[in-house]
Amino acid sequence: MFVKIERDYDAMSARGAQIVAEVVRQKPNAVLGLATGSTPEGLYRCLIDIARQENLDFSQVTTFNLDEYEGLPAGHPQSYHAFMWEHLFEGLGLREEQTNLLSGIAADLPGECVAFEQKIRAAGGIDIQVLGIGGDGHIAFCEPGSSLAGRTSVVALHPQTIADNARFFDTEDEVPRRALSMGVGTILEARSCLILAKGEGKAQPWAGMIEGPVSSQVPASALQLHPWTIAISDTAAAAQLKNGEYYQHVDRERNDQPVIPPWIVDPDLDPRRQFASRIESVDG
Ligand code: F6R
Repeated sequence: MFVKIERDYDAMSARGAQIVAEVVRQKPNAVLGLATGSTPEGLYRCLIDIARQENLDFSQVTTFNLDEYEGLPAGHPQSYHAFMWEHLFEGLGLREEQTNLLSGIAADLPGECVAFEQKIRAAGGIDIQVLGIGGDGHIAFCEPGSSLAGRTSVVALHPQTIADNARFFDTEDEVPRRALSMGVGTILEARSCLILAKGEGKAQPWAGMIEGPVSSQVPASALQLHPWTIAISDTAAAAQLKNGEYYQHVDRERNDQPVIPPWIVDPDLDPRRQFASRIESVDG
C-alpha cells in the first residue's frame, strides 16, 4: 500500500483527482469505480476542473458505483444516484448509459447484484476504484464481519453507519437500514484502488486499515492484500499511524515513480495475472 499524507483536505483531493485523471489520460475508455459520501466530493470537484482545463475527454469512460441504499429510487435526493449526478456526472458531461449504479428499488435485489457483477465483467473490470472509509472501518457498505471474499449483495448497515449517515437525512429514522453493496472480493479485483480519509474521526479505522491485522472486523484492511492501493489522507486522519514519518519519506523517495500501475494500460502486466500464467507455463 502506498500511504500518502497531505497537509489538508484540498491537497488530498487534488492529489486524488490527479491520479484518476492520469488513468483517463492513459486509457480514455477507462472503467472508473466510484464512491459517494463527503470524502470524495473535493476529488470530484478537482476532477471536473482538470477535465475543463485540459479538455480531458470522459466520453468513452464507464463508471460503476460501490453501493446504493435499499428502497431509495434514483430520484430521491439522498440516493447515491442523485449524489453522483450532482457532484460528478453532470460536471463531466457524462451520458446516463456511461454510468452504472445498483438500483435500490429493483424487484429482485439479489438478481440486481448478480447482474451488476456481470456488467463489471463485461466492461473489462474496474481500472481504478475510488473509496472512502467508514468510522467502523467499512469500505463500500461492507461492514465489520463482512466476508473478505464477498461479492455484491444486499447488506445490513451497522448502527454506527446509520448514525454517521444521519447527517444527510432529516432524522436518523429516515436512514435506510439496508443497502446493496459491492463486496470486498469485488473491490479487490479492481486493477488499482484509491482510498481517501479526512478528519480525526477516521484516524482509528485508518490506522487499522494500514497497520492493523487483515481482519473482517476492519474490512478496509483487506486492501493490504491488493497489489496497488494508494491511501491518501489529511494529517488529522493520519494521526494514529505509527509509521507516518516513514511513509512520508517513502513518498518523497518515490516521487519519480508512476502514479498508476502499468497494468491499467496492459492488463497482462498485472502481477495477479502474470503469476497465474507463469504457474501455467511451468505446469505445461
Ligand atoms: C459510499 C461508501 C462508503 C463511504 C464511507 C465514508 O459510497 O462507499 O463506504 O465511503 O461511509 O463516508 P464519508 O465520506 O461520508 O465519511
